[in-house]
Amino acid sequence: MPEQERLLTLNQVSKNFGGVQAVKNLSFDVNSNEIVGLIGPNGSGKSTSVNLISGAVPPSSGDIVWRNQNVNKLPIGQRVPLGLARTFQTTSLLAEFSVLEQVLTACHTSYRVSPWRSVLRLKEARVQDAEQRAKAQELVEFVGLGDVAHDLTSTISSAQQRLLMIATAMAAEPRLILLDEPAAGMVAKERKELAEIILRIRKRGLAVLVIEHHMGLIMEVCERIVVLNFGEKIAEGKPEEIQRDSAVIEAYLGGVH
Ligand SMILES: Nc1ncnc2c1ncn2[C@@H]1O[C@H](COP(=O)(O)OP(=O)(O)OP(=O)(O)O)[C@@H](O)[C@H]1O
Ligand SMILES: [Mg+2]
Repeated sequence: MPEQERLLTLNQVSKNFGGVQAVKNLSFDVNSNEIVGLIGPNGSGKSTSVNLISGAVPPSSGDIVWRNQNVNKLPIGQRVPLGLARTFQTTSLLAEFSVLEQVLTACHTSYRVSPWRSVLRLKEARVQDAEQRAKAQELVEFVGLGDVAHDLTSTISSAQQRLLMIATAMAAEPRLILLDEPAAGMVAKERKELAEIILRIRKRGLAVLVIEHHMGLIMEVCERIVVLNFGEKIAEGKPEEIQRDSAVIEAYLGGVH
């Protein structure tokens, strides 16, 4: 096991939208090479938390710390190069691109040669281009989409589109990948494959923060789970602890009483 490093810390983070307190005094950590789950009933603040961590929205109060650096004011585009990448709850793909091209686009955003130097030094650029293509191909195969690498992103299944979003996020070479409902719309067999991919992502040395409604997947892959209800953390612990936590059971069953 590689030595663990604290990657992300949320310290008393809150987010208000007008009168709505979407997230209230939320604190938790994510360490390197760890799979953490973020769960909670509908509207409990999961997506808002991911938006806060990725930099899509700033916190109303509290601190978001990435590897000892306060990133509260850092916009999304400046967090990706630091090693934070995410997927979205809804799919966001380039419809006229092939699967491979989609991932390649994301590889190019981490291009090492500047556009001007590329013009002046075509050979170097070509070598890099080949490197980027090989990297994109490897990521496409990593998520199990090798067979559809040249299909248009709009023609593959919705489960495949979700895997493609993971490959796209991984192209930025993150330390932590945030997955917002990666299993949405997947059938049991597809969820099983997704679980294997998430475990393999960790084997590559990445940390994963996964938000999911599907408890089976969360319980199978996560080492630690943070539970939200009405924007507040109501529990945190190992899957077996969360499963028997009375506040968690109440939050999930409360609505059907
Ligand atoms: N941009 C926004 N403006 C106003 N209110 C918002 C905004 N984003 C989220 N909210 C509100 O904040 C609360 C938390 O929403 P959020 O989307 O974070 O929940 P969630 O746990 O991801 O829910 P779901 O399981 O349905 O995806 C909800 O009451 C929601 O209506
Ligand atoms: Mg959500």
